[in-house]
Amino acid sequence: MGAHKRVGILTSGGDCAGLNAVIRAAVYRAVGTYGWEILGIRQATVGLMQRPPEAINLTIDQVSSILTTGGTILGTTNKGDPFAFPMTNGETRDRSEEIIEGYHLLGLDALIGIGGDGSLGILRKLAQQGKLNLVGIPKTIDNDVGSTELSIGFHTAATIATEAIDRLHFTAASHSRVMIVEVMGRDAGHIALRAGIAGGADVILIPEIPYSLTKICHHLVERQKQGKNYAIVVVAEAVKSETGESVSSTNTLGQTRLGGVGHYLAERISACSRAETRVTVLGHVQRGGIPTVTDRVIGSAFGVAAIDLIAEENYDQMVVWRNREIGSVPIAEAIAHYQAVDPNEILVKTAHSLGICLGN
Ligand code: F6P
Repeated sequence: MGAHKRVGILTSGGDCAGLNAVIRAAVYRAVGTYGWEILGIRQATVGLMQRPPEAINLTIDQVSSILTTGGTILGTTNKGDPFAFPMTNGETRDRSEEIIEGYHLLGLDALIGIGGDGSLGILRKLAQQGKLNLVGIPKTIDNDVGSTELSIGFHTAATIATEAIDRLHFTAASHSRVMIVEVMGRDAGHIALRAGIAGGADVILIPEIPYSLTKICHHLVERQKQGKNYAIVVVAEAVKSETGESVSSTNTLGQTRLGGVGHYLAERISACSRAETRVTVLGHVQRGGIPTVTDRVIGSAFGVAAIDLIAEENYDQMVVWRNREIGSVPIAEAIAHYQAVDPNEILVKTAHSLGICLGN
């Protein structure tokens, strides 16, 4: 069974559905199987900067009912880079040593970091600097972490986007409109591609495939000529203008966010196809809600596998899902290979074969 261990667990970066399934499984395995302690750290690494560090002892009773809940019971942040931490005076400060100290103050033997490629990169840098025993679990609705076919949250986000498209079909048909659905995914088009195929979209635009407005309009006009009175266009938020400019906005705090390409397209599509257009921006709805079967199952398997890696003292690894198996790869390897949509992948070919216009 091995020596007793005290393990920290944190969720970092944007939240998504399925995180609580991971936490629950890790607690069941660590406490239930191995008899270890597991501490849930609040607000990602920010909890480790507090004095005393903000963490709670997680018991089986505490996590037994969280399997189906959205978000993360631990809280998270996607603005807490400890190497350039934003201070209240507007400056940034390197607070990495405080986090390393927080790990030791809690008496941790190992840390599980649940995050996307950005968070996992930061956690690994901290682990290298402080010689911390880190195990990573991939999560992001964007599904862009390398070396794994699935990251927690992606399946739920793609399902929510699909359901939205399903609903839009009826109102589109009733009003003879072109409905444009803008989905998240940051620089990767995985959500748009999956939801577009699953929802029977007519046009899918992803950042990995450059498009021509002329081709999109030709496709829509041909559809009209066939007597089809409406169309669904799915666009990933990082799709650029036709001339290659990023479509984003900057708020009063100077933070730039992707978004707006749906409206950009709507104007141009109505001008060239003469169709009435409407835009739906799904936004954070895709991150919320009840996790799907896949996110619950993969989340549970990842939580157990992460604890087993710690039992083997096999650190600096990230758990992965590949070919219907759980495995692990060095975290460095996973974050070195950003996983965008491959324009030659089977789902792109499937979309083409179904007559969906990908703009090219
Ligand atoms: O990375 C996950 C994600 O939801 C992206 O798809 C999206 O662009 C971004 O986070 C939104 O971030 P925020 O929650 O800071 O608005």
